[in-house]
Amino acid sequence: MRRWLGLGGLAVIAGLAVFWIVTTPRPLDAAALPANYKADAKNGELLFAAGGCASCHAVPDEGKCDNPHYTDHQRLAGGRCLKTPFGIFNVPNISSDKADGIGGWTDLQFVNAVTMGVTPAGEHYYPAFPFSSYTRMTIPDVLDLKAYLATLPAVSGKARPHELPLPLQWRRMLGGWKFLNFDGKTFATDARQSPEWNRGAYLVQGPGHCGECHTPRDPLGGPLTGWRLAGGPAPEGKGWVPNLTQAKDGLAEWSKHDIASYLGTGLTPVGDSVGGSMVAVQTNMALLPVADRLAIAEYLKSLPPLENPRPKK
Ligand code: HEC
Ligand code: HEC
Repeated sequence: MRRWLGLGGLAVIAGLAVFWIVTTPRPLDAAALPANYKADAKNGELLFAAGGCASCHAVPDEGKCDNPHYTDHQRLAGGRCLKTPFGIFNVPNISSDKADGIGGWTDLQFVNAVTMGVTPAGEHYYPAFPFSSYTRMTIPDVLDLKAYLATLPAVSGKARPHELPLPLQWRRMLGGWKFLNFDGKTFATDARQSPEWNRGAYLVQGPGHCGECHTPRDPLGGPLTGWRLAGGPAPEGKGWVPNLTQAKDGLAEWSKHDIASYLGTGLTPVGDSVGGSMVAVQTNMALLPVADRLAIAEYLKSLPPLENPRPKK
C-alpha cells in the first residue's frame, strides 16, 4: 500500500514538473534585437494599419465597452471589452502614457509582448491578443511599429481587469495553450514564389492576422491548422466567417482585382458592402498602398480549395 502511495506521489511530482517546464514563458533576450537599429515610424504607421491595432485598442465611441466603432484611431487607451466563450477580455491601454500605457517600455519588452506573448513581468498573455499571428512579423517591423506608437498621444486611464473564470485567471495555464498552438516562428520567405506573393503571405499570416477570424478553431480556441482560412463559425458565437480559399463557397469566383478592390472599398463583386467584424479590418486595409492589397489578393488566389460549406439556415 505504502509503496503504491509512494509511486503515485512520484507520478504526481513528475506530472507537475512536466507541466512546469511546458508552461514556462520563453521570452527573447536582448541579443535577438538588431544592433544600432534606426526605427522607421513611417513604416510603423503602415504596420499599425495592417495589424488593426486600433480596432481593439482605440477608445470605443460613447464610452460603451462593446462598441466596435471608434472615432479616433490614435487614442489607444483601450477600454474595449471582447466577449468570448472563455470570458470577457478588457483591452489594455497601449498609448504612450508612461504610467497607464506602454510609454516606459523598452524595445525588448515590446518585442516580447507582440511576438512572443510574454509580459514585461515574464508571464503569458492571453491569445485574445493575436500574438500568435504577430509572431510572424520581423523584428525590424515590430520596432518600427513601436516608433510609430511613440508618436501618438499619451492617454491616461487603466482598463478594468479581465473577467474570467478562476482557472483561466492563472496565466501559467496559457503555457499549455501555447505549447499546443504557438510556434514563435518569424515569417519565412518562399524563394519559389514571387516577391508580390511573399509580401501578401506576410501581410495575411503576420500583421493582418486574417486567420484569427477566418480559420476555424477547436474547443480550446486553438486554430485547426488543416483548415487554414477555410472559414467557420464566428468566434463571438453568432454568424459565419467566410472561406478565403479557392473553394466553391470561398473566393473561387473572385478575381485578384475583386479581392483587392473589396479590401480597398468594402464592396463585393456583386455590390454588397462589407459587414460585421470585417468592417474595421477593411477600414484599416484601405489605408495600405494599393500594391499591398494586390499582394494580399495574389496570395489568397494561390490557396488550394478547402471545402467547408456554411451550414444551411
Ligand atoms: C483582437 C484584439 C486585439 C488586437 C487586434 C490587438 N490587440 Fe493588443 N491586446 C489585446 C488584448 C486582449 C490584450 C491583453 C492581453 C492579456 O491581458 O493577456 C492586448 C495586449 C497588448 C499589449 C500589452 C499591454 C500591457 O499593458 O501589458 C501590447 C503592447 C499590445 N496589445 C499591442 C498591440 C499592437 C501593437 C497591436 C497591433 C499590431 C495589437 N495589440 C492588436 C487585444 C488586441
Ligand atoms: C476580426 C475578424 C476578422 C479578421 C481579422 C479578418 N476578417 Fe475578413 N471577414 C470577417 C467577417 C466576419 C467577414 C464577413 C463580412 C460580411 O459578412 O460582410 C469577412 C469577410 C471577408 C472577405 C469577403 C469574403 C466573402 O465571401 O464575402 C474577404 C475577402 C476577407 N474577409 C478578407 C480578409 C483578409 C485578407 C483579412 C486579413 C487582412 C481578414 N479578412 C481579416 C472577419 C475578419
